[in-house]
Amino acid sequence: MVSVLYASYYGSTKQYADALAARFGVSAQEIGDNSASLIDGSSADPVVILSPIHGPAHPGVKLIKRLSEAVVKGRPIALATVGMTLEHVAYDQDPVGKLLGDRANHIDRFYLPGRLNYSELSRKHRGMMKSVVWGLKITGAKGENEKMMVDTFGQYVDRVDFKKLAPIAEWVGNNT
Ligand SMILES: Cc1cc2nc3c(=O)[nH]c(=O)nc-3n(C[C@H](O)[C@H](O)[C@H](O)COP(=O)(O)O)c2cc1C
Repeated sequence: MVSVLYASYYGSTKQYADALAARFGVSAQEIGDNSASLIDGSSADPVVILSPIHGPAHPGVKLIKRLSEAVVKGRPIALATVGMTLEHVAYDQDPVGKLLGDRANHIDRFYLPGRLNYSELSRKHRGMMKSVVWGLKITGAKGENEKMMVDTFGQYVDRVDFKKLAPIAEWVGNNT
Protein backbone atom coordinates (compact mmCIF):
# COMPACT_ATOMS: atom_id res chain seq x y z
CA MET A 1 0.00 0.00 0.00
CA VAL A 2 1.35 3.41 -0.94
CA SER A 3 1.85 6.13 1.69
CA VAL A 4 1.06 9.67 0.54
CA LEU A 5 2.41 12.55 2.64
CA TYR A 6 2.17 16.24 1.92
CA ALA A 7 2.84 19.76 3.13
CA SER A 8 0.90 22.75 1.87
CA TYR A 9 0.77 26.44 2.70
CA TYR A 10 -2.14 27.52 0.49
CA GLY A 11 -3.82 24.27 -0.54
CA SER A 12 -2.65 23.37 -4.03
CA THR A 13 -0.28 20.61 -2.86
CA LYS A 14 -2.98 19.21 -0.59
CA GLN A 15 -5.33 19.01 -3.58
CA TYR A 16 -2.75 17.02 -5.56
CA ALA A 17 -2.03 14.76 -2.56
CA ASP A 18 -5.71 14.05 -1.95
CA ALA A 19 -6.30 13.31 -5.65
CA LEU A 20 -3.32 10.95 -5.81
CA ALA A 21 -4.23 9.17 -2.58
CA ALA A 22 -7.84 8.72 -3.76
CA ARG A 23 -6.60 6.85 -6.83
CA PHE A 24 -5.06 4.24 -4.54
CA GLY A 25 -7.83 4.16 -1.94
CA VAL A 26 -5.68 5.68 0.83
CA SER A 27 -5.73 8.98 2.74
CA ALA A 28 -3.04 11.60 2.32
CA GLN A 29 -1.31 12.49 5.59
CA GLU A 30 -0.04 15.97 6.36
CA ILE A 31 3.66 16.02 7.27
CA GLY A 32 4.04 16.43 11.03
CA ASP A 33 6.60 15.92 13.76
CA ASN A 34 6.25 12.13 13.72
CA SER A 35 6.21 11.64 9.94
CA ALA A 36 9.85 10.55 9.78
CA SER A 37 9.22 7.74 12.27
CA LEU A 38 6.17 6.56 10.28
CA ILE A 39 8.32 5.99 7.19
CA ASP A 40 10.29 3.05 8.51
CA GLY A 41 12.37 0.26 7.08
CA SER A 42 9.96 -2.53 8.03
CA SER A 43 8.04 -2.10 4.77
CA ALA A 44 9.13 -1.95 1.15
CA ASP A 45 5.94 -0.18 0.10
CA PRO A 46 6.34 3.03 -1.92
CA VAL A 47 6.12 6.49 -0.37
CA VAL A 48 5.10 9.64 -2.26
CA ILE A 49 5.88 12.96 -0.60
CA LEU A 50 4.29 16.06 -2.13
CA SER A 51 5.58 19.47 -1.12
CA PRO A 52 5.63 23.09 -2.22
CA ILE A 53 8.97 24.76 -2.82
CA HIS A 54 9.73 28.27 -1.54
CA GLY A 55 13.25 28.92 -2.76
CA PRO A 56 15.53 26.88 -0.49
CA ALA A 57 12.62 26.13 1.89
CA HIS A 58 11.14 22.75 1.04
CA PRO A 59 9.22 20.76 3.69
CA GLY A 60 9.52 17.55 1.64
CA VAL A 61 13.31 17.79 1.46
CA LYS A 62 13.37 18.59 5.18
CA LEU A 63 11.43 15.38 5.89
CA ILE A 64 13.70 13.27 3.67
CA LYS A 65 16.76 14.62 5.47
CA ARG A 66 15.28 13.38 8.76
CA LEU A 67 14.93 9.78 7.49
CA SER A 68 17.63 7.25 8.28
CA GLU A 69 20.03 6.37 5.49
CA ALA A 70 18.76 2.77 5.53
CA VAL A 71 15.19 3.93 4.86
CA VAL A 72 16.26 6.33 2.12
CA LYS A 73 18.21 3.55 0.41
CA GLY A 74 15.79 0.74 1.11
CA ARG A 75 12.36 2.16 0.38
CA PRO A 76 11.03 3.49 -2.93
CA ILE A 77 10.48 7.21 -2.28
CA ALA A 78 9.20 9.79 -4.76
CA LEU A 79 9.25 13.51 -4.07
CA ALA A 80 6.77 15.61 -6.05
CA THR A 81 7.47 19.33 -5.83
CA VAL A 82 4.68 21.80 -6.50
CA GLY A 83 5.81 25.20 -7.69
CA MET A 84 5.33 28.03 -10.16
CA THR A 85 8.58 27.51 -12.06
CA LEU A 86 7.68 26.50 -15.61
CA GLU A 87 7.56 22.72 -15.66
CA HIS A 88 10.22 22.13 -18.32
CA VAL A 89 12.54 24.61 -16.57
CA ALA A 90 12.02 22.79 -13.26
CA TYR A 91 12.83 19.41 -14.84
CA ASP A 92 15.88 20.90 -16.63
CA GLN A 93 17.27 22.68 -13.57
CA ASP A 94 16.10 20.12 -10.98
CA PRO A 95 16.43 22.46 -7.98
CA VAL A 96 15.28 19.69 -5.63
CA GLY A 97 18.14 17.44 -6.69
CA LYS A 98 20.48 20.17 -5.44
CA LEU A 99 18.57 20.59 -2.18
CA LEU A 100 18.68 16.83 -1.54
CA GLY A 101 22.47 16.63 -1.93
CA ASP A 102 23.74 13.03 -1.85
CA ARG A 103 20.23 11.74 -1.05
CA ALA A 104 19.16 12.76 -4.57
CA ASN A 105 20.52 9.44 -5.89
CA HIS A 106 17.85 7.53 -4.00
CA ILE A 107 14.82 9.78 -4.45
CA ASP A 108 12.75 9.91 -7.67
CA ARG A 109 11.73 13.48 -8.39
CA PHE A 110 8.67 14.96 -10.08
CA TYR A 111 7.55 18.56 -10.62
CA LEU A 112 3.91 19.68 -10.62
CA PRO A 113 2.55 23.09 -11.66
CA GLY A 114 1.15 25.06 -8.72
CA ARG A 115 -1.03 28.00 -7.89
CA LEU A 116 -0.07 31.46 -6.71
CA ASN A 117 -2.71 33.87 -5.56
CA TYR A 118 -1.02 37.08 -4.43
CA SER A 119 -4.17 38.32 -2.71
CA GLU A 120 -4.07 35.42 -0.20
CA LEU A 121 -0.33 35.49 0.57
CA SER A 122 0.88 36.20 4.08
CA ARG A 123 2.79 39.44 4.59
CA LYS A 124 6.03 37.48 4.84
CA HIS A 125 5.45 35.49 1.63
CA ARG A 126 4.32 38.58 -0.29
CA GLY A 127 7.45 40.39 0.88
CA MET A 128 9.63 37.50 -0.25
CA MET A 129 8.05 37.46 -3.72
CA LYS A 130 8.32 41.24 -3.97
CA SER A 131 12.04 41.24 -3.26
CA VAL A 132 12.68 38.36 -5.67
CA VAL A 133 10.76 40.09 -8.47
CA TRP A 134 12.36 43.49 -7.76
CA GLY A 135 15.74 41.79 -7.93
CA LEU A 136 14.82 40.28 -11.30
CA LYS A 137 13.67 43.65 -12.60
CA ILE A 138 16.94 45.28 -11.54
CA THR A 139 19.18 42.59 -13.03
CA GLY A 140 16.94 42.24 -16.11
CA ALA A 141 14.67 39.22 -16.32
CA LYS A 142 16.30 37.42 -19.23
CA GLY A 143 15.09 33.84 -19.06
CA GLU A 144 11.61 32.60 -19.96
CA ASN A 145 10.88 31.71 -16.34
CA GLU A 146 12.13 35.03 -14.95
CA LYS A 147 10.01 36.96 -17.49
CA MET A 148 6.96 34.93 -16.42
CA MET A 149 7.62 35.79 -12.76
CA VAL A 150 7.84 39.50 -13.51
CA ASP A 151 4.81 39.48 -15.82
CA THR A 152 2.57 37.61 -13.37
CA PHE A 153 3.64 39.51 -10.24
CA GLY A 154 0.58 40.44 -8.17
CA GLN A 155 -1.77 38.24 -10.17
CA TYR A 156 -3.69 35.04 -9.58
CA VAL A 157 -2.20 32.20 -11.60
CA ASP A 158 -3.63 28.71 -11.26
CA ARG A 159 -1.78 25.97 -13.14
CA VAL A 160 -2.95 23.05 -11.02
CA ASP A 161 -3.60 20.19 -13.40
CA PHE A 162 -4.49 16.77 -12.00
CA LYS A 163 -3.59 15.09 -15.30
CA LYS A 164 0.02 15.82 -14.34
CA LEU A 165 -0.29 13.19 -11.60
CA ALA A 166 -0.24 10.41 -14.23
CA PRO A 167 3.54 9.75 -14.17
CA ILE A 168 3.50 9.69 -10.36
CA ALA A 169 0.61 7.20 -10.35
CA GLU A 170 2.59 5.12 -12.85
CA TRP A 171 5.64 5.28 -10.54
CA VAL A 172 3.48 3.97 -7.68
CA GLY A 173 2.28 1.11 -9.88
CA ASN A 174 5.86 0.23 -10.86
CA ASN A 175 7.00 0.23 -7.25
CA THR A 176 4.15 -1.72 -5.67
C1 LIG B 1 7.40 33.11 -0.93
C2 LIG B 1 7.22 32.15 -2.06
C3 LIG B 1 8.34 31.57 -2.65
C4 LIG B 1 8.16 30.68 -3.72
N1 LIG B 1 9.27 30.13 -4.28
C5 LIG B 1 9.12 29.27 -5.32
C6 LIG B 1 10.26 28.67 -5.91
O1 LIG B 1 11.41 28.88 -5.49
N2 LIG B 1 10.07 27.85 -6.97
C7 LIG B 1 8.81 27.57 -7.46
O2 LIG B 1 8.69 26.82 -8.42
N3 LIG B 1 7.71 28.11 -6.90
C8 LIG B 1 7.84 28.94 -5.84
N4 LIG B 1 6.72 29.49 -5.24
C9 LIG B 1 5.39 29.08 -5.70
C10 LIG B 1 4.74 27.99 -4.80
O3 LIG B 1 5.57 26.87 -4.70
C11 LIG B 1 3.38 27.62 -5.38
O4 LIG B 1 2.54 28.74 -5.21
C12 LIG B 1 2.75 26.35 -4.81
O5 LIG B 1 1.65 26.00 -5.60
C13 LIG B 1 2.35 26.54 -3.36
O6 LIG B 1 1.82 25.33 -2.86
P1 LIG B 1 0.63 25.33 -1.77
O7 LIG B 1 -0.61 25.94 -2.43
O8 LIG B 1 0.42 23.88 -1.46
O9 LIG B 1 1.09 26.10 -0.60
C14 LIG B 1 6.86 30.38 -4.20
C15 LIG B 1 5.74 30.99 -3.59
C16 LIG B 1 5.91 31.85 -2.54
C17 LIG B 1 4.70 32.48 -1.91
